[in-house]
Amino acid sequence: MSNGNRASEIAARLRERIETSSAGAKLPGVRELSKEFQASAATVSAALSELTALGLVRAEPGRGTFVANRGQLSEPDYSWQSQALDRARVDANRASRLGGYGTPDHIPLSWGYLAPELVPSEELHRIGSRAAKSSRAWMMTPPAGSPELRRILAAEYRADPNDVLVVSGGQQGLVFAMRTLAEPGATVITESPSYPGAILAAQSAGLELASVPADANGIMVDRLADELERTKARVIYIQPSYANPTGAVLSAERRTQVIELATRYGAFIIEDDWARHLGFEGQTPAPLFTEDPHGHVVSIFTLSKPASPGLRLGAVIARGPAGERLRASRTADDLCVAPIVQEIAHGLLTSNVWPRHLKRLRAELTTRRDALVSMIQSAMPSIRIPSVPQGGIHLWVRLPQGTSTQELSATAYQAGVLIGDGRHFFVDEPPAPFLRFSYGAATEAQMAEGIRRLSEAATD
Ligand SMILES: Cc1ncc(COP(=O)(O)O)c(C=O)c1O
Repeated sequence: MSNGNRASEIAARLRERIETSSAGAKLPGVRELSKEFQASAATVSAALSELTALGLVRAEPGRGTFVANRGQLSEPDYSWQSQALDRARVDANRASRLGGYGTPDHIPLSWGYLAPELVPSEELHRIGSRAAKSSRAWMMTPPAGSPELRRILAAEYRADPNDVLVVSGGQQGLVFAMRTLAEPGATVITESPSYPGAILAAQSAGLELASVPADANGIMVDRLADELERTKARVIYIQPSYANPTGAVLSAERRTQVIELATRYGAFIIEDDWARHLGFEGQTPAPLFTEDPHGHVVSIFTLSKPASPGLRLGAVIARGPAGERLRASRTADDLCVAPIVQEIAHGLLTSNVWPRHLKRLRAELTTRRDALVSMIQSAMPSIRIPSVPQGGIHLWVRLPQGTSTQELSATAYQAGVLIGDGRHFFVDEPPAPFLRFSYGAATEAQMAEGIRRLSEAATD
């Protein structure tokens, strides 16, 4: 056990004792406690410091350590808050399914991030320790981000580095973009099914949502034209490459048409480019951003997907006055992304570890995708897989008509398996019975066990 854990363990034991002691009672001295817990004086001092930080004891130099006076608050009454708070903007049920949900014991058959063994951990440890030693990591960067990092992030988008705003992940980028490109009450059109986090971002910006169906070639442009006409929306949200949840890639023809529509209607396209590095075969289509010189496309990039869920770093890339507004309004939230995180991202993106990691990752994801597809096909033949994704980490499958995905995902949860209830991915239309699986979050052995439990749950 490490020293830190041992200190926390001693602190927990002392906490129990403090709970039954009266304020002002004196704790035994460090020497006595060291003897009692068979621990070094340094470990005991660390435990006492933890209790001091928790406000449970106070140290009086030269006199000892005493139980602090913990004045009890009266029984809380929050009922007034329900009057004060208006209707919630963000759908709490949808929100509860984002990020970390489930317990560490659940098998993640659906989760939007890489499993620990797919993260380049050792390299990140090395790059992280080097970053921590750099003095730049402990100073602020300009609000838009470190100039060196912005230059690297701009390259893939053939953008001017000044058009890049460094943010702490794609989700923050989505909120910034939705909030800055439209005023509360305006409408954002999103392809459907879509990423629930984008729906939440729109809700938190006070926007109305309109949906346009997507098929294997991405958003259906005729329907998009109708919806732009009907709603007068000036913001469209799409994921052109390996969409979450469908895996769809916007076809070359539709890419041109979407940009033409945005031009005709004077609209912005928020391009959620989260899977930029996750195309398996050949090249991921270039960002839509590179086909639009006039500032209609605002791209959102993230490192949390191809590198590590804990590397909370992304970018919003936007040209013209919209970009200026985005960069100006970010200081209302936060003055910059933690410089040490920017330093690590820069170190990763400029090291030879990065292309090596991506190559290995794509190969491994391809293997896991194939394994998951064949496990589903053999264990649950009534599930239909409309298309096998060529990139990204998600697999979108259809269940027989009439299946309740809500019930099935709840039963699976009880059986220790996380699956994505398709209902959360539909924007506003009545959902068809779909599930989202992911092949990046679990090992093949975990997937096999998860599918076994799920097929049992489905037949119960
Ligand atoms: C499509 C899509 N966009 C954006 C995000 C946001 O990711 P992050 O904030 O981790 O970069 C996610 C995460 O699940 C996603 O699936």
